[in-house]
Amino acid sequence: MESLLTSIDHVAIAVRDLDAAIAWYADTLGAKVVHREVVASDGVSEALIRVGDGFVQLLTPTRQDSTVAAFLDRRGEGLHHVAYRVADCAAALAAVKASGARVIDEVPRHGSRGTLIAFVHPKTSFGTLIELVQESEPLASTDE
Ligand code: CO
Repeated sequence: MESLLTSIDHVAIAVRDLDAAIAWYADTLGAKVVHREVVASDGVSEALIRVGDGFVQLLTPTRQDSTVAAFLDRRGEGLHHVAYRVADCAAALAAVKASGARVIDEVPRHGSRGTLIAFVHPKTSFGTLIELVQESEPLASTDE
């Protein structure tokens, strides 16, 4: 079988204080935020730091019923999910489902930056929440 995964899109890290985390990455690692977005449907605010061809995504809940709020309560700050780029999110999701893996999203939905995304449940992926990301257009650098 050919790999469905073309590269790592982002590694998402759940934090309680987004501004403090952004400042830490800047002051300690010299890493700059290239994109910020509030995803109202998921109840999260995110900041993307470019690392090579991919991103680190700092993620914080904007409301208490967000799944990220529940994650922070249960597991504390740290790695939340790994997002892989795929050529075709619907096709990749169908292949994952056909293999018997448990998924969170039955069909692709819109993520940040105009991407098309779907989450695979950590229960059948050895404890890691996996996101499949189909990029729309390359992200232009902003905030400079
Ligand atoms: Co993500």
